[in-house]
Amino acid sequence: MALRWRNSFSCNIQEIDNQHKKLFEISSKLNILAPICSKIDFEDEIKEVLNELKEYAIYHFDYEEKLLQKFSYKDFEEHHQAHTVFLDQVLKFERDNQKLNKPEIVTNIISFLTGWITAHILKTDMKYKDFFKDLGIH
Ligand SMILES: [Fe+2]
Ligand SMILES: [Fe+2]
Repeated sequence: MALRWRNSFSCNIQEIDNQHKKLFEISSKLNILAPICSKIDFEDEIKEVLNELKEYAIYHFDYEEKLLQKFSYKDFEEHHQAHTVFLDQVLKFERDNQKLNKPEIVTNIISFLTGWITAHILKTDMKYKDFFKDLGIH
């Protein structure tokens, strides 16, 4: 299932919303490749997209964490920990070095990525929405 942006994903901070949209955009590339990867060898392309997603997630987490730290957000540590767990899992996918030529393997990876990203935005990122709103940051 491809991720579709909805207003309920908005954290009320333009730059962060844009970065979240970009994460959606990168993951949707995997959705296109997954069903056809057994017919045509798209392994290199899938690895490339996974790498792009990892690099962009690192950039986004860093941006978000710097903002949280700048304003002494009280649940910073917990938030940082959640980002670390995600990156560890993505690195594990890379280390496992699975043959990405079966739709079910790629689909499993996609469901972890999209499931984690949506749940994280809706539960964890959403917790700072009012915090920044009260500070007048948008
Ligand atoms: Fe986050
Ligand atoms: Fe985020």
